[in-house]
Amino acid sequence: MGMKGNQAQPGFFPKRTHHCHELRRCHIGQRVTLIGWVHSRRDHGGVVFVDLRDREGITQVVFHPDRCPEATQEAHRVREESVLQVWGEVAARPPGTENRRLATGEIEVNADGLRVVSPCAVLPFPLHGGNLPGEELRLSYRFLDLRRRPMLENLRIRHRVLRAIRDYLDGQGFIEVETPILSKSTPEGARDFLVPSRLHRGCFYALPQAPQQYKQLLMVAGLERYYQIARCFRDEDLRADRQPEFTQIDLEASFVDQEELFGWVEGFLEEAFGRVCGVELSLPFPRLSYWEAIDRYGTEKPDLRWPLALSDVSEIFSETGCKIFRAALEQGGVIKAINAKGLAELSLAQLEGLIEEAKSLGAGGLAYVKVEGKEWKSPIARHLTEKEKEALSQRLEVEPGDLLLFSAESWEIACKVLGKIRERVMSWLSKSHIPKEPFAFVWITDFPLFQFDKEANRWEATHHPFTRPHPEDWKLFEEGQYEKVRALAYDLVLNGVEIGSGSLRVHEPELQARIFQILGLDPMIQEKRFGHLLRALSYGAPPHGGIALGVDRLVMMMAGATTIRDVIAFPKNSAGVDLLTGSPTEVELEQLRELGIRTVPYREP
Ligand code: AMO
Repeated sequence: MGMKGNQAQPGFFPKRTHHCHELRRCHIGQRVTLIGWVHSRRDHGGVVFVDLRDREGITQVVFHPDRCPEATQEAHRVREESVLQVWGEVAARPPGTENRRLATGEIEVNADGLRVVSPCAVLPFPLHGGNLPGEELRLSYRFLDLRRRPMLENLRIRHRVLRAIRDYLDGQGFIEVETPILSKSTPEGARDFLVPSRLHRGCFYALPQAPQQYKQLLMVAGLERYYQIARCFRDEDLRADRQPEFTQIDLEASFVDQEELFGWVEGFLEEAFGRVCGVELSLPFPRLSYWEAIDRYGTEKPDLRWPLALSDVSEIFSETGCKIFRAALEQGGVIKAINAKGLAELSLAQLEGLIEEAKSLGAGGLAYVKVEGKEWKSPIARHLTEKEKEALSQRLEVEPGDLLLFSAESWEIACKVLGKIRERVMSWLSKSHIPKEPFAFVWITDFPLFQFDKEANRWEATHHPFTRPHPEDWKLFEEGQYEKVRALAYDLVLNGVEIGSGSLRVHEPELQARIFQILGLDPMIQEKRFGHLLRALSYGAPPHGGIALGVDRLVMMMAGATTIRDVIAFPKNSAGVDLLTGSPTEVELEQLRELGIRTVPYREP
């Protein structure tokens, strides 16, 4: 390939003396060589200004036609995002032209020469400044998208978060172990990605949905404290905070209780937030039982950045003349209320929207009171006695301008309805108020062990089948009152997003077999699917437990991103496609033949 003039020759290895963020006043007069991408280029009456960018920063390079005529000509032609090597002398910028937003804004480099190390084709979209194109185009040219500062910064944040967590866990005696990617199906609630085996035709590996069973086996093996930055694969419907392939900080430890586990997680998060965000977390995180979370916030994933909570005001209405309220109480239901502070001015249409939402969740409706000055305006106002108003004012800390919302239903529905309404109210509040606490963590504990799946007519494990029943509910478990049995299972929630989940495990083979049985797995299926685990548990398995945190979700929130795709180098789009490589793709017939696989046209079931 012929290369002329200022083009780099094959065999040329570019070197630099400095990175593009380094040069300051103290370097004035020094001769330097820089290498980087053409961030931008401006021509001013024959003088060419190039902002040269590398991973670390930007330096302004100036090409004067009288100082280096040939290089200036070349600089004039060079396209944005080409790679250049430039050499010259550091000089002070002329007074008044300093750029305070740039670390190197007090100096510039007067070029003596340049080499085009690697030219850039016409860009599919402008990388810096200007409007971002749609995400599809960004993902198709991800290598360019990642050149944008915010994206590079996200990858750096991710690196530093993982580094902080590794350091912390290492200090606590955790051993990092890699578990298989070609593994066996683990029931984490999603579909498996399957990998056909060539050597065992008709048989499949499953990509791990989580390293759950392997980490438990490592406890049986005596490792005592394990962790892994683990890649997990789940074939499920995608959303902004879900990817088919994602990363967990996965840990497991023997001879621990819940509090000790919480302490480690709080410890590594304190380390990561301190180092990466300069934020001091207040420890320990609050703890709420699952029941309390539903009762107070109407969800097991409460966003605690806002103090807003649901109150049970049934007692206040024990003698109510309001028909709807009385009917709910007579049927064993409750009256719950929420005070949407300062929202009395909500429009009728917005209120209608809330009422429709309540109905869609199974409620008969939603009662409201607008507190305008001293006056309580509401369709139910005439049913409210002074005594009831007084009691409500105290309980809900009512002030003029507030909007009170009531749900009179069964406890479950009232909680669910006001939980959703609370979310709506928070989203309105967040437009005008900044929460006091930018990162509100909460542990949710004591989840139910099982849930009854009405459609399938069987019990399902709320977390997973390896989770331990709560010792206080042992009798209920023995009696078969499964709906009432709590588990030693917990979630970690940050700003209303589940970022982690774990439990103490079953380490007794008999108990594990019994739980499988309750879940509808007869002994033959148990042996087929979980024989290895049941056997392992019978060889001196230590009591153990663990947790896994979603790295992508955590980093997304630390970086202030709105989708996990922005903190993953090469994510899939919402249809599960890698737009950069085009995967998934069809494969050669020969590959299928070797695997003993024939594809048939797909018909919608
Ligand atoms: P769980 O299934 O709750 O528990 O997953 C733990 C955490 O992983 C994250 N996560 C995801 N992140 C991105 N995309 C996804 N598709 C996705 N799915 C889950 C969430 C979640 O809280 N083995 C158990 C843990 C244990 O018991 O130790 C497990 O995997 O942040």
